[in-house]
Amino acid sequence: MNRVIIGSQWGDEGKAKITDLLTVNADVVIRSQGGCNAGHTVVVDGKTFKFHLVPSGILYDGKVCFLGAGTVILPEFFKKETDDLIEQGIDLSNLKISPLASITMPYHTEVDGFVESTTTKGKIGTTKKGIGPTYTDKMARIGLKIQDLYSLETLSEKLDVILPQKNKVLEKVYGLQPYTKDCIISLCEMYAEIFRPYVCFNWQEMLETFKKQNKNILFEGAQGVMLDVDYGTYPYVTSSNPIAGGACTGSGYGPCMIDEVAGVAKAYVTRVGEGPFVTELTDEIGKRIQDIGHEFGATTGRPRRCGWFDAVIMRYSALVGGLTTLALTKIDVFDDFDEIKVCTAYKDSRNGKIYYSYPTDVYMHKYLEPIYETHPGWKTSLSGIKKYEDLPENAKKYLSRLEELVNIPISIVSVGPDREQTIFR
Ligand code: GDP
Ligand code: IMO
Ligand code: MG
Repeated sequence: MNRVIIGSQWGDEGKAKITDLLTVNADVVIRSQGGCNAGHTVVVDGKTFKFHLVPSGILYDGKVCFLGAGTVILPEFFKKETDDLIEQGIDLSNLKISPLASITMPYHTEVDGFVESTTTKGKIGTTKKGIGPTYTDKMARIGLKIQDLYSLETLSEKLDVILPQKNKVLEKVYGLQPYTKDCIISLCEMYAEIFRPYVCFNWQEMLETFKKQNKNILFEGAQGVMLDVDYGTYPYVTSSNPIAGGACTGSGYGPCMIDEVAGVAKAYVTRVGEGPFVTELTDEIGKRIQDIGHEFGATTGRPRRCGWFDAVIMRYSALVGGLTTLALTKIDVFDDFDEIKVCTAYKDSRNGKIYYSYPTDVYMHKYLEPIYETHPGWKTSLSGIKKYEDLPENAKKYLSRLEELVNIPISIVSVGPDREQTIFR
């Protein structure tokens, strides 16, 4: 059984918690896209682990954790994350990186930071981890891959092409310092040492063996469908493909390898950074959700914007994300709420037009108003409940209505951050 787990909103849905739970039955966990812009939290017996690049499956003994070709790796960040995990006694002998993964160079983080700090109109609000510039160079065919670090001849040949272009742009466009070839080569020597214990040069044989042996593979998504570079709220997105299709391009396995796509959604919606958000609550209720749900970024610490569950984006996400089942998290955040709202459609304030399908021109979203239906709360704590049948009637009705609106079955309900606080249906 091979499963893809993806975020179905704007990230931070609780993917890592769900991945961690489902890793029990997996042999291999693969990250296919994104980089250290991700912040994945797992709570085990009250102890909190935060992952950015390393797949959360590393907490289990004997599970292979693979960073695929579609990921982008900031070497200094990778070193810090792996050093911290080793210090906490986590065994990293099963951590492997594709030689085809892209490297985030210092000029990528510099450009990301520069653009973020000098742009006002149209600012994205990135994590400043160099994600966009690294993917830009990959697509422009002037990126460095991990395998380049282990051949001076390759590196030298590539840098002769990359550096003249790169330096011209750094100096003339951004007014930043150029890099000498010697400087980049010595950085790359350091990177080669950082990655050496983990680079998986025989990744083809490894993937082939897993396939032949019918190993259970879990694809751990990062970010979320609405941050997808092709389908999200472009340009307010990340630069990779968090949709289920990204699991294929970024891992080395084809679509026929995938049996199930689990979308993770919060019982409300959050977003970090800029960009449209039709159901955003800028009032006391939004603040209340933020406080109870501890909605602060796991990577940047920025407060997450909060709003009501949006069935319009969820139906869209189910389609383009390729979802076959849903894991609904953080429903416990509403334990004390008298009423819970759900957005079923949008209304264009200019002409009254109703949208049931997601309108993709995000520059028009400022004219959209959410149409809500209101559900009564359950006014009791859900955190200790283990069985679906034991949920209060109002919680069950709310879940059924979400299933109906999104047209995808909810197979997991998460009622707290800990592994144990989960209801399987
Ligand atoms: P990810 O990026 O999708 O893996 O999500 P994050 O780790 O960035 O954010 C999710 C946060 O919610 C983390 O702090 C989790 O520990 C927490 N969390 C996950 N599921 C639940 C839940 O059902 N209830 C509550 N209260 N917290 C949860
Ligand atoms: P996980 O995996 C939430 C957002 C950033 C910004 C936009 C572009 O923890 O769900 P980037 O640095 O990627 O160029 O920033 O994407 N973003 C995330 N938001 N969760 C994430 O990851 C995110 N990764 C990127 O806030 O709006
Ligand atoms: Mg996160």
